[in-house]
Amino acid sequence: MVDQSLTDLSWDDFDEHRDPRPEGNQFDEIVDKAISRRGFLGGALAFGSGAAVFGTGLFNSTSAAQAASHAKFSFTPIDIATDYAVHVPAEYDHKVLVRWGDALWSEANGAYSAENGVSVDMSDKVFGENTDGMELFEVNGKQLIAVNSEYVNPKINLPKEAEGSPRNADEVTLLKNLQGVTVMEVADNGKGYEVVVDSPYNRRITHETVMTLAGPLAGHPLVQTNADPKGMTVKGTMNNCGSGKTLWGTYLTCEENFNGYFGATGAEPVGEGYKRYGIGGEGRYGYEKFDARYDLSQEPNEPHRHGFITEIDPANPDSVPVKRTALGRFKHENAEMVHAKDGRIVVYLGDDERGEYLYRYVSNGTYAPGRATNGLLDDGVLYVAKFNEDQSGEWLALTPETTGMSAADILCFTRMAASAVGGTTMDRPEWVAANPLKAEAYCALTNNKNRGVKPNAGGDDTSVNAVNPRETNKYGQIVRWTPADENHAADTFAWDLYVMAGNPTVYNNAYAGSENVNAGNMFNSPDGMAFSSDGMLWIQTDGDYKNQGDFEGMGNNQMLVGDPETGEIARFMTVPNRAEVTGLCWSADKTVAFVGVQHPGGSWPDGTGNPRSSVVAVWRKDGAMFG
Ligand code: FEO
Ligand code: CA
Ligand code: CA
Repeated sequence: MVDQSLTDLSWDDFDEHRDPRPEGNQFDEIVDKAISRRGFLGGALAFGSGAAVFGTGLFNSTSAAQAASHAKFSFTPIDIATDYAVHVPAEYDHKVLVRWGDALWSEANGAYSAENGVSVDMSDKVFGENTDGMELFEVNGKQLIAVNSEYVNPKINLPKEAEGSPRNADEVTLLKNLQGVTVMEVADNGKGYEVVVDSPYNRRITHETVMTLAGPLAGHPLVQTNADPKGMTVKGTMNNCGSGKTLWGTYLTCEENFNGYFGATGAEPVGEGYKRYGIGGEGRYGYEKFDARYDLSQEPNEPHRHGFITEIDPANPDSVPVKRTALGRFKHENAEMVHAKDGRIVVYLGDDERGEYLYRYVSNGTYAPGRATNGLLDDGVLYVAKFNEDQSGEWLALTPETTGMSAADILCFTRMAASAVGGTTMDRPEWVAANPLKAEAYCALTNNKNRGVKPNAGGDDTSVNAVNPRETNKYGQIVRWTPADENHAADTFAWDLYVMAGNPTVYNNAYAGSENVNAGNMFNSPDGMAFSSDGMLWIQTDGDYKNQGDFEGMGNNQMLVGDPETGEIARFMTVPNRAEVTGLCWSADKTVAFVGVQHPGGSWPDGTGNPRSSVVAVWRKDGAMFG
């Protein structure tokens, strides 16, 4: 049996379970003290020293400035919600496009039932659970959405008698198949689109899909297993969180909390990096009991083959996905690719764990449309971000010279390489989004209850700093940077905080948030982000939805729109209680947005039975483009 409490934990709390605070230090009391007035002053002082990090435009974003910029928002901002429904502005309409368990091929019609979920034989023919990162592609006049299913909830997918823990290999297969990636054709039906069932482009990519390892780590002893002695071919991608899109039209899926899938059935190896990556002990789902691949006692190197950016060609359903080891191994959130001014490819990458780092990959070769792209994601240099107190920043190269580690070790144990060169420990880097109108990028730092009170899993100092200025940061912030010479491949940048989330109705210190946060647009825990083509920043939250105490007035999770120029932020959408909003893309004509609603509560959207993670389509009633 899997310890049932494990599957109930958030991934954040699972990290804590794997890397507990030392016993006997009365940690809770320390936290209580940190949240005392003295602790706040500490945070506020650090905040004060970093006050200049806010763009002056933000401090000037008074109501008059906000009113002047309001024309940029093509909607009436909405109020918070606390119910089990989706809400959009009055000028907009919405509907559910696809739900967990909906058929992608007609043979799976009716495969989902509220009583029994999905049967194992249909589990790779339906839309997976817990939708996440999402991108739209135009292929031969068709529109295809590639979308992740991040994780699976054993309690509602397995028979009740299983009590949330798989009892045999079939039940493991069922759970595995409901994760991974879906490629599906969508078509404009005049009402927010529909999935094209039986499209030849439809595809499920799961834990069972065969993929290739590419880049410097491919073939290395660190990635060799009994099942794959050459270390070149891997089965499966897992815990696919955020997404990315290459300039050449392929999908990037990001393997985040891969560590929780592995467990030891016998003698537990002490693998290099296991502790830093939270690997060891009992697996979160018990897969290791029925599949040797997840059993650390049998395949101690298997975890080295996950935690990558994986590239998928949605245009070819027979294509073999490729794990791009050159982009490093960690808990990848998303992958934001930009074309640097000097022609090279840059991919911004966050590692979502408390006190981990923000990264950048720069290709050695250059890109031009139509030219071969071979090697662009296999041959390059990985960097970690260092944010200086004076609002300058540097990208520190992770090379054998700078880290003292081999090239293979840098890619397999990227976190240790980043620690070695002294990157800035961050408040859980989630999505990065690049402004399409100027050389500028944003990263959502969702929250970090350990900031200032506990080092990261590698023992790195996580004291407050200018870019992560609040102890036990419960609200999160968004940092942005402008590369030197407007070149994303440049090694230095200037940064400021675009917004610091907070609650100005509860606090009058740093926890009130920045000037562009007010009682009418409050939120916490920014996570997903994407720019629309008009240069507006869409912000999705995955935070506290109880609407009480420190979070009173914030309501359910939400999607907001931010104006990079004025700092104004307005609430666009709220999702059912318990859900997070994650994943955003637009139809080719930019009249319909597709938005992911993950782990909703109540009985949304069916109104009866289990809640179902779904993709929602949103469009303006007048049919105007807004993406
Ligand atoms: Fe899967 Fe960091 O969110
Ligand atoms: Ca996320
Ligand atoms: Ca999150």
